[in-house]
Amino acid sequence: MQEQLSSLLARAGAELKSIRTRPELESAKARYVGPNGEFTALMKQMGSVAKELRPAMGKLVNESKAILAAKLDAALRAIEASELSARLGPPIDPSLPSPDEGPGTFHPLTLVREEVCRILRKVGFVVADGPEVETEFYCFDALNTPPDHPARDPQDTFYFPQSARFANVSKHEPGERYLLRTHTSSVQVRTMLKGPPPIRIVSPGRVYRRDTSDASHSANFHQIECLYVDRNVTVRDLKALLDYLFEALMGPGTKTRFRPHYFGYTEPSFEVDLSAKHLPKVNKEWIEIGGCGIVDPEVFRAVGYDPEVWTGYAFGMGIERLAMTLYGIDDIRVFYQNDLRLLRQFTGAT
Ligand code: DAH
Repeated sequence: MQEQLSSLLARAGAELKSIRTRPELESAKARYVGPNGEFTALMKQMGSVAKELRPAMGKLVNESKAILAAKLDAALRAIEASELSARLGPPIDPSLPSPDEGPGTFHPLTLVREEVCRILRKVGFVVADGPEVETEFYCFDALNTPPDHPARDPQDTFYFPQSARFANVSKHEPGERYLLRTHTSSVQVRTMLKGPPPIRIVSPGRVYRRDTSDASHSANFHQIECLYVDRNVTVRDLKALLDYLFEALMGPGTKTRFRPHYFGYTEPSFEVDLSAKHLPKVNKEWIEIGGCGIVDPEVFRAVGYDPEVWTGYAFGMGIERLAMTLYGIDDIRVFYQNDLRLLRQFTGAT
């Protein structure tokens, strides 16, 4: 029996070393220690061992059992280790140089955004940020945009379900809905509610509208908003700032003009066109670039400013439209397709 045990252990040792998979291991286990296994059969022979030999044999069987269990266990560990390394893939040396191509270039929308902010910082504007999820108050009500205004229609705007809750507002009326902001003008309200004038902010960011994507529309695009609040601010200040901005951004010879328009939050309101015939692919005399005006007293009332004391101007424009004009791009969709052949054409110099 002693010999049988040691030959069984030797065989098991050799076999278990070559086992690579769990099913193989399970079947080996059954063959050795299962109810009909070889080791189990040997244990059953204990009954026929002479009484005086039983203690010694019992000890031997127990030791063999422990050795066999250890071998089965080692086989399982080996399988687990190989499964793990299969999942991790080939070994890597993190100290080697990276196989990717190193620093890329900035996205054209980033370049234009940063350039506009840089130009405006020079004349005292600071960059302000605001959330993309807004309530109707910040996006519409405080901006003197009444409930029946078309911009508020669910056809035009992405609303959250009534049950949605966010922690980014200081006040929330019962029934008031959250939405993806349709314009960066909401940052005007957020900024004014934070403190008293004077205020001079530029706020770039992402906005959302229910637009069907085509060469000039995207449901998600970017705007830059500006707000200046101080005493005695006039249309002339606004026009001077826009002339300065667009000439700095698009080069000498860039001109702007105002066309009367309507926005709830400004009075008077204008649409801004720019003329930049020196740019590539610009074949129109005037390109519509944004909206602007003198801040409506109702907006000041909504944020607790005295409209008899404070005056201001505001404007907003799309970054995509600016970048398309500047770089001669004729389809807005290329900004989001991330084709490196397009994106690599732009560097830090605008
Ligand atoms: N919010 C307007 C839009 O998305 C743009 C705009 C118009 C911004 C007039 C302003 C403004 O600040 O005064 O079309």
